[in-house]
Amino acid sequence: MTGQPLLEVRALVKRFGGLQALDKLSFEVHPGEILGIVGPNGAGKTALINCVTGFYAPNDGQIILGSRDITGLPVHRIGRLGIARTFQNIRLFRRMTVLENVAAVTHDWVRRPLRSLLARRYGAIRDESMALLERLRLDSKADQVAGGLAYGEARRLEIARALATRPRLLFLDEPAAGMNEQETEALIGDIRAIGALVEGVVVVEHDIDLIRTLSTRLVAMNYGRRIAQGSAAEVFADPQVIEAYLGRDNA
Ligand SMILES: Nc1ncnc2c1ncn2[C@@H]1O[C@H](COP(=O)(O)OP(=O)(O)O)[C@@H](O)[C@H]1O
Ligand SMILES: [Mg+2]
Repeated sequence: MTGQPLLEVRALVKRFGGLQALDKLSFEVHPGEILGIVGPNGAGKTALINCVTGFYAPNDGQIILGSRDITGLPVHRIGRLGIARTFQNIRLFRRMTVLENVAAVTHDWVRRPLRSLLARRYGAIRDESMALLERLRLDSKADQVAGGLAYGEARRLEIARALATRPRLLFLDEPAAGMNEQETEALIGDIRAIGALVEGVVVVEHDIDLIRTLSTRLVAMNYGRRIAQGSAAEVFADPQVIEAYLGRDNA
């Protein structure tokens, strides 16, 4: 690939005591990519998202967004610079409505709360939030409390919220976890359509069918290291990847 990467992760290290969750991990996300990250449980996929989004401070290595070094910046700074994420364990405001969950994190509301209040920009915030709910097929649920959503719906609401910050790059941590085959298939269409709203998507997923169908390129991890990268066909034919899946994960 040519041109400047959207994101560059260089020799990233994250330790927890004696455990090396990320061991000099390097990879790039290029503009327009839907990059899939695969690897058995405990490979370090969530730790990677936590480091890139500022939830964990890495012990070593660099994270470059565009041409800016964002290594070790706090969560809110990284959010403002354009990286958003969803969580493997859903995190929503359960007592707020579906619409409020999205509106509360919109770009306008978070960056210019006073202006939003004074200029009565509620209308614009509401419209933008509703448009995102429509994209994620949740517009009919706008006025229900988020705590009452079905599991798959809650996962989609998390994606709508992440998009409300108008990110350049979106990380999805196991977006299909707990979904049945039909829901997963519909989700694949949703994520493809989201590609038009952001410059890049990184999907961490256990569901190999989803990853195969969706990703333009794959990175495989094990024990915090990159063990393969390339097309889905290349990565899933790689002996180290086969070994990692058979050796550590009987799912
Ligand atoms: N906050 C933490 N404290 C201690 N160990 C952690 C923490 N987060 C992750 N780990 C460990 O780091 C390794 C990678 O975990 P994780 O990134 O969650 O894996 P994955 O998402 O690929 O399943 C695991 O061994 C896990 O137990
Ligand atoms: Mg994980």
